[in-house]
Parts: sequence; C-alpha cells; structure tokens
Amino acid sequence: MCGIVGATGVNQVLPSLLKGLEKLEYRGYDSAGVYVNGGKDGDFLVREKGRVSRLKAATENKHITGTAGIAHTRWATHGGVSVENAHPHMSEDGRFYLVHNGVIENFDELRDNYLQGVKLQSETDTEIAVQLIDKFSKEDNLSTFDALRKMISLLDDNSAYGFLLMDNETPDLMYAAKKKSPLLIGVSDQANVVTSDAAAMLDITQDFIELMDGEVAIIDKEKVTLFDVQGKQIERESFHLDIDASETDKGVYPYYMLKEIDEQVIVAHTLSQHYFDDDANVQNIDDEIIDAIKASDRLYIVAAGTSYHAGLVGKRYFEKWTGIPTEVHISSEFAYDQPLLSQRPFFIFLSQSGETADSREVLDNVVKQGYPSLTIANVMNSTLTREATFALPLLAGPEIAVASTKAYTAQIIVEAILAHAVGNSEVDLKNELAKAAVEMQVIIDQKDKFKIIAEQALKNQSSAFYIGRGLDAAVAVEAALKLKEISYIQTEGFAAGELKHGTISLIEEGTPVLGLVTQSKTAGLVRGEIAQVSARGANTVIIASKSLAKANDAYVLPDVDELLMPLLTVIPAQLIAYYATLDRGLDVDRPRNLAKSVTVQ
Ligand code: F6R
Repeated sequence: MCGIVGATGVNQVLPSLLKGLEKLEYRGYDSAGVYVNGGKDGDFLVREKGRVSRLKAATENKHITGTAGIAHTRWATHGGVSVENAHPHMSEDGRFYLVHNGVIENFDELRDNYLQGVKLQSETDTEIAVQLIDKFSKEDNLSTFDALRKMISLLDDNSAYGFLLMDNETPDLMYAAKKKSPLLIGVSDQANVVTSDAAAMLDITQDFIELMDGEVAIIDKEKVTLFDVQGKQIERESFHLDIDASETDKGVYPYYMLKEIDEQVIVAHTLSQHYFDDDANVQNIDDEIIDAIKASDRLYIVAAGTSYHAGLVGKRYFEKWTGIPTEVHISSEFAYDQPLLSQRPFFIFLSQSGETADSREVLDNVVKQGYPSLTIANVMNSTLTREATFALPLLAGPEIAVASTKAYTAQIIVEAILAHAVGNSEVDLKNELAKAAVEMQVIIDQKDKFKIIAEQALKNQSSAFYIGRGLDAAVAVEAALKLKEISYIQTEGFAAGELKHGTISLIEEGTPVLGLVTQSKTAGLVRGEIAQVSARGANTVIIASKSLAKANDAYVLPDVDELLMPLLTVIPAQLIAYYATLDRGLDVDRPRNLAKSVTVQ
C-alpha cells in the first residue's frame, strides 16, 4: 500500500515521476505528491488530494525543472485524506523531504519524546520521521545518512517502512531504507531510480537491486551504495527483469480489469506450457516440494481475499487427488488465533502480490516454528516467495486492476497441477485444462450477454446474493466479492443450503439472487433453494453448466470436468461485476477505499 518512486540523473525528472506514480496508483489513490530538487531554481513540492491526474494537472504551468525527485501515491493510514497529510513530508526548515510506505507504530511516543517544540503540519506518522531526521542532523550534528539510521533505530519492532529521503543540500542524492514494505533500486547508465514496484520504472531500466529488511542505500545518478543493518557497506548484484513495459499498459482496453479478464485464457496456456512437458508429465515443480507435501499429514492453505477464495477451490484438489486433509484459513485470523496444528503440517500461501502483510505475519510465525512452507504467488522475488521454504510462480503477468481476476484462475490452475503432481491422479489434467481454456475463451467472447444480465438484474439494486453448493459455494463467495468491491452493491456469497437458517429473511421483492449450478451432486438441491427464494419475490438468475441446464437459465456454461468448473463459473461473475460497475459510472479499476497490495495489517 502506498506507492513510492524516485529518480536521479533523469533530464527533466518530473514526467518520469508522474508516469511512475500512474503505474503505482493501484497501491493507493487517496492523494499524491511530488518533490523535485530544482537546484538553483529551488525546491518544488506539489501535493494534491485524489488521483495522480489531479497532481499532474497541478504541476502544469509551475515550470518544475530538475533531474532528481521523489513522489508518492497514498493509501491513508494515519491521518485523513488531505493535502497536509499527503506525501512527501517536509522538515520544518524545508531541508529534508520524505516519502514513506508502511506504518510507524510508535509514532505518537516518538512525537511526545522528541518533537515537543516542533510545529507539525500533518497528522501522519511519516512527518514524525522526517522531523526526527532534521532534529538529529542539527542537534547531534549527524550526516543525513546517520540521522536517517538513528531515526530508524527508534522505530519499534512492529513498524514497517519503505522510506525514500532527499536532502536539498545534496540535490542528486536519494536515501532509501526498507523493512517489510517492498523497495527496489533500479540501475542504468544514465540514471538510478527507487520504486515500490519495478513496473513503475520500466521505461528507465529493467535492472534492479533488491533492498532487504533493515538495509539502507545511498543512490546518486552514477552509483548505488548499500549498507546492512549494522551500517557496514555491502555489495549486491542487480537482477534483470524480463517484463515488457507494454505488459503494464492498458492497450486498447478501457480498463485493466477487462484486459485481465481476457488474459485468463493465455495465462491458462502459459501455465500449462510451463508446468507440463510434451507427455503431459508435470515439470518445473521440484521433487523436494512434492516430497515435503507427501511427508505431511495435513495441508494448511493460508491467504486473504480472492486468494483465500482460490484456496477454497484448491482444498478440493488436494483432498481428492492427494488424500491429505486440507484446511483453508484467512491469514489475518490465523496470525493471531492459530488453530491446533497436526503433527506434520505443510503450509501453502497463496498470494497475487506476495506482499500481503496478514499472510506475511503467518509466514513469520510458521518459519519461527520450523514448519515447511510453499508460496504460490504472481510476483516472484516478493517477501512471501523469498521467506517460504519453496515458491512457485503464477505466471499471470502484471495484475493492475484492484479487483483480482487472472491471479484467481491462475491460483486454481497451479493448485490443481500441484495436487495432481503429488497425488499422481488418473486425470489427464493437461488435456482437461486445455479444454477448460478453450471454453473460457468461449465465455469471454460472449461479453454482451453479461452486460445484459448486469443491467437487468442489478440496475438500481443495493444488495444481491450469489449462492451455490460445494465448489459453487466456493465460487459464490469470490463472485460476491468481485461484485461488491467494485460496484458497491452489498453482495453476499452463500452456501445455498444455509440461506434458510436465517439469511432468507433478507429476500424481498426484486432482490437479485444469482444461483450457480455446476455440480451434479447438488444441482437439484440448489435449484430447490433458488425456487425457495423465488417464491419469496427474489429476481433469480441461474448460471448452470450445460449438462445441468434447464430452460430459462440465464446463462449456460460449457461442460468441463466438474472439478475444473470454477475456472469457467467465475468468468460470468467477473464480467457481471465489471458491467454492473460501468453501468453505475464508477471507476472499475480503482474502487474507493481500496489498494491492490495490502501491506498493512
Ligand atoms: C480482491 C483482491 C483482494 C486480494 C487480497 C490478497 O479482488 O484482490 O481480496 O486477493 O488483498 O492479496 P494477495 O493475493 O496479493 O495476497
């Protein structure tokens, strides 16, 4: 959460910083700000409430010149959404400028102990950090580097930070520090950059150095110097990131979400090519992973949000194909309320970003307890992939829309392949997945149908339900999350049989209830439950698989192996959410109050 970019050595740095911020907006978009050191032209600090486009407009006609600067897009934690609370924050005398991603847990204590005489401009924890740097540099006569390190040494253990600092007395230099919040240093012959996500700076470089927890870096236009926790200089090679800058563009699409929904088919093919050889044997999953899972007596899938929902689907694959009992847990709950574990647990973390703080908290505990773990993530080299025993990639390409789509289907596919590899299941999974990919494309090509369903069922509605049983119940909760998070229609995803135990009282004339019917064992029961709500006035919309479909169903899904039906069933739900949101004139990619990578607990 919160996005940081900085650059030094770029001829006219402002456009690069603003472009970088646009790419980082998925990390937060309450407010945005930029600082450029203009050398003899002085310091430029511009901050605006709202989206980066407003900041961009505010910088026009200001004749901002300079080759080094830092910028930030905010997801508010401490202090409301205001210009004063927007980053960069400035020290009292205007010398230091700081952007921050993370939370300083003991900021009020630091303020009371050290900054009594300072007139604070904001309510943020970040301003405390920059005022402390200023104080230590003046009163203790410390260099900027030492003042930054002294400030960091006062932060309590629970604090998280990615800091990027500039001192106007050394205009070409940036200082970066990191703990728990991601920060990468990009290097090139002409310029060096710092960013929360490589995608923001691909126009300048594809070579990055990772900053590790506790480290500090000094970056100027020619070189990068890294220091470990003790302040000792260290060396680290850069790595080359093979991402095409165009992958992070919308191209011809009006919204990233639509592009990412469409990309699900290609992701399915990519995963198949990566994880299967020509003879349909699983490849690229180390024997060590398979052996570790086989040696365990219980699997614990831990994740948040959409990734948790993918875990609910994956549980079926692990139990059916490996015979190992599998539990699925919400990471924010597991972190502070760990259930009694089996004798030989194995942990599977699912995450698009690999940075979700709630999941990281669980992984920290798992590592401390010495249990083996695997992270399945889209962003490799992320904290969750680095800190788990093993990691497997989702290969979905950058997912930019806040609402996750292709990462969800990729997670389901990788879980299926892994369970298949461990269990040596009889299923010809490569072939079944290929069929599913073909049918996903068929559904995606019928977008207009979902536009019509969205308009007919959801226009002017303030609440809705998705219901199903078994795997359809697992998809129903994801379908409901998709719809509510972007359209703001309060939607519940429900195990259909549970409705009559209380929630059915919410059904009134016209309440939209979308029923998912793709599992033969329970199809009749779900249809019965749909009839019950229909009898109470609900406006029912049935999405059923071909072999279970009946006349008047709103949409008929092609048939694939029932276990793989979630890969298909979720697509109508994603598209219905998309069109319902468009119909309301809302920003599909950037729903209010949300951010893509949730790096605070
Ligand atoms: C919803 C969504 C979130 C994420 C959740 C976990 O569309 O994207 O619910 O799934 O914040 O994030 P990751 O997968 O990055 O750990």
